[in-house]
Amino acid sequence: MNILQWHEVCPSDDIEEEDVIAFEQDGTLYAVYHTPTGFYATAGMCTHEAARLTEGLVFGDVVECPMHMGRFHIPTGAAKGAPVCVNLVTHPVKVEGGKVFIGLAD
Ligand code: FES
Repeated sequence: MNILQWHEVCPSDDIEEEDVIAFEQDGTLYAVYHTPTGFYATAGMCTHEAARLTEGLVFGDVVECPMHMGRFHIPTGAAKGAPVCVNLVTHPVKVEGGKVFIGLAD
């Protein structure tokens, strides 16, 4: 059975609105976003090829991959069209005591 574990990412002030940061846990890269509708987390790598979404651009609730400009809807991970067609895995996020936490299944 997978149990959700909360991992501290950073103070919430460290991620500006419409920005993304990298978070690594057990050798896996995650992308943690601050959008106008709140904080979110997805897999850190694009589903198209080997590009880090943590180096992409955030526009509202969309992240654009730095390699071929594929776009994903951050809250749902949905691929928004060519060249990306596979959705991103999303992860729960919470903000407590001014800090951002990502929930990962153990
Ligand atoms: S690697 Fe992200 S769009 Fe191609």
